[in-house]
Amino acid sequence: MRLLVTGGMGFIGSNFVRLVLRERPSWTVINLDLLTYAGNPANLADVEREPRYSFVRGDIANAADVRRALVAGCDAIVNFAAETHVDRSIESSEIFLRTNVVGTTTLVEAARALGRCRVVHVSTDEVYGALGPDDPPFTETSRFAPTSPYAATKGAADLLALAYARTFGTDVVVTRCSNNYGPYQFPEKLVPLMITNAIEGKRLPVYGDGLQVRDWIHVEDHCTGLLAALEHGRAGQEYNFGARAERINLDVVRRIVGLIGASPDLVAHVADRPAHDRRYAVLPDKAERELGWRPRRSFDEGLAETVRWYVGNERWWRPVKDGSYRDFYRRWYEERTA
Ligand SMILES: NC(=O)c1ccc[n+]([C@@H]2O[C@H](COP(=O)([O-])OP(=O)(O)OC[C@H]3O[C@@H](n4cnc5c(N)ncnc54)[C@H](O)[C@@H]3O)[C@@H](O)[C@H]2O)c1
Repeated sequence: MRLLVTGGMGFIGSNFVRLVLRERPSWTVINLDLLTYAGNPANLADVEREPRYSFVRGDIANAADVRRALVAGCDAIVNFAAETHVDRSIESSEIFLRTNVVGTTTLVEAARALGRCRVVHVSTDEVYGALGPDDPPFTETSRFAPTSPYAATKGAADLLALAYARTFGTDVVVTRCSNNYGPYQFPEKLVPLMITNAIEGKRLPVYGDGLQVRDWIHVEDHCTGLLAALEHGRAGQEYNFGARAERINLDVVRRIVGLIGASPDLVAHVADRPAHDRRYAVLPDKAERELGWRPRRSFDEGLAETVRWYVGNERWWRPVKDGSYRDFYRRWYEERTA
């Protein structure tokens, strides 16, 4: 299997690349990543010298970059590359449209041109919008009702990818996962922000009343699901991934405070995000039934493990938080392209 992973320098992509190299010893992986602020070569420093792994810097929305990454051919593409932060999409949505919509279309078009190339398009449960407190969780047939520019661009990308499956018979599988947490997550997202701020004794900013409900899954459980979708998913199908672990944000923050042993007084409620969704949750029944996949960690185990990882890996997150990782990766990239 020759695999093209896009966005492999980000949070979930880097965990997936590591999983594939470990679990599938005959596979080769090309990682196409633009190295935006969210792409950090330190995320894959441990596999850099692995002969089955190679890196190409490039933009998924640029057909020439995609062709360059595919020059040696490819059996499947797993698309993680995206602009992913909701707050940033509210500030400005243009780059979200380019990367998430144009980029995904460029990839499925490249797969169509290649022929015999599966695309697993990694999407999010946020395309379904928000649930009321008593609504049943979303399924694959739930209506799209995105409430942020981020989620709208992800939904548009899903529809384009699925349209390629119907129009051209391109082998596309779309996955939608709930909120991930785990190692190597950029500390602008809730769990790593709270863990690292708690370690530093900094304020823990909680949006609004903090009573928003999210359905949490450990990143490795998401990645084993993606591997199962790649190997066993039916072409043209959509699969939701979640771990049936709905938690209130404020409870997640309080649990982190307890695990770190920080002061509960650090918790500070700040102005809420516009149209902040109250609740997300997905039913993973179809993935469990068809892919033979199950999430392995409970939320409590996964969160405790994640806290231990951040406590033990300050060398990774401190440069990300203070911005100096950008200098590291500029040097890293220059050394490799000199
Ligand atoms: N984080 C979550 O909780 C979550 C949940 C469900 C689905 N997802 C989806 O999973 C995917 C990965 O999410 P993540 O949290 O790892 O994201 P991330 O922001 O950590 O990483 C995104 C990666 O994509 C790269 N990238 C951005 N624009 C690019 C472009 N134009 N061309 C090539 N590379 C580009 C970045 O450099 C970075 O390495 C996204 O598609 C996201 O929508 C994330």
